[in-house]
Amino acid sequence: MSDRLLLKALARDHVPRRPLWIMRQAGRCLPEYRAMRETHSFKALSGRPNLAADVSLLPLRRYPFDAAIVFADIMSPLPALGVQFDFAPGPVVAEPIRSQAGVDALHDPDIECLAPEVIETVARVREAAPGDVAVLGFCGAPWTLAAYLVEGRGVKDFPTLRAFAAAKPAVLDGLLAKLSSAMADYLIAQANAGADAVQVFDSWAGLLSLADWERLIRPHLQNLLDTVGETGVPRILFVQNAPHLLDAYAKLPAEAISVDWRTDIAEARRRWPDRAVQGNIDPAVLLGGEDATRRAARDLLARIEPRGHIVNLGHGLLPETPLTSIDALVEAVHNEVVP
Ligand code: CP3
Repeated sequence: MSDRLLLKALARDHVPRRPLWIMRQAGRCLPEYRAMRETHSFKALSGRPNLAADVSLLPLRRYPFDAAIVFADIMSPLPALGVQFDFAPGPVVAEPIRSQAGVDALHDPDIECLAPEVIETVARVREAAPGDVAVLGFCGAPWTLAAYLVEGRGVKDFPTLRAFAAAKPAVLDGLLAKLSSAMADYLIAQANAGADAVQVFDSWAGLLSLADWERLIRPHLQNLLDTVGETGVPRILFVQNAPHLLDAYAKLPAEAISVDWRTDIAEARRRWPDRAVQGNIDPAVLLGGEDATRRAARDLLARIEPRGHIVNLGHGLLPETPLTSIDALVEAVHNEVVP
């Protein structure tokens, strides 16, 4: 356990080399994943622990990553709340929630009912992964889940969600409270099953102003992180496209903040000395090929000190990413001589 580089970085201990993993590392840029998708839907893959554990470990057969993230989706625990959805390719919710009645209809699930298949996958991945690899559990942040539940699907700038937040703040509050409590239980179950750390994905963090975020969203995110923190499992908070909220996010109780490529991560490291940071190469850079990737990786390593830094992209890998770019990133990180 103590030799898991990722955990050392989360504790801001000295590391012999910076840890590296990539968001969406198990997905469509791997030919072996695409082959599995020819015979199984995403739901079938993520719904069967033996298959989901295999998919979680696929990227580690090719690359010496320091973490395996459990193969599931932020939507996976929502059936336990009574939500029905499909993927096309992003989540499409059967009955979007836009009223108090919709919030009242959500179940208040027992912890064992929250995606038991994902919990079993976590246990299997921990069992099968090499000892020095950290296993990551995850969930969607309450606001990012609410974005899909209210809007019904991913839409640019989520106007229905923002209208709902303005028109029915009390209903939104009830929705976020239910999501926050369920996600805390879900992450605790993942930690109990063997997750070494957990990541909360707030992909749609940046849609509201700082004042509205403080008033409507922050209390629920804080509750979720506080509750999970009681177990002692380290927390990574991923925040996307929210430059105006970053200092507010860095005040939340999480061991690490994961930032996108718009952020000056070296400056973030200096401003938040008691947080680890994760990121933040632009995923599109990898589409630009090996040389562009190598330059971006070296530039990142040169700008930010190794201690408390987890190398990653600023958002998930794009499906068209050439595998040779991932090789170049791994090589740059592994060749660095850390003093
Ligand atoms: O490394 C991994 O692949 C881990 C598993 C993982 C998935 N989704 C699998 C998935 C993780 C960590 C997620 C998180 C997720 N899902 C987020 C947060 C991170 C982010 O990207 O911002 C969000 C917003 C979602 C919602 C979602 N699910 C979208 C937008 C999509 C479709 C578009 C896309 O980016 O793939 C999905 C479907 C989904 N989830 C796929 C995978 C591998 C694609 C399914 C397929 O067709 O194979």
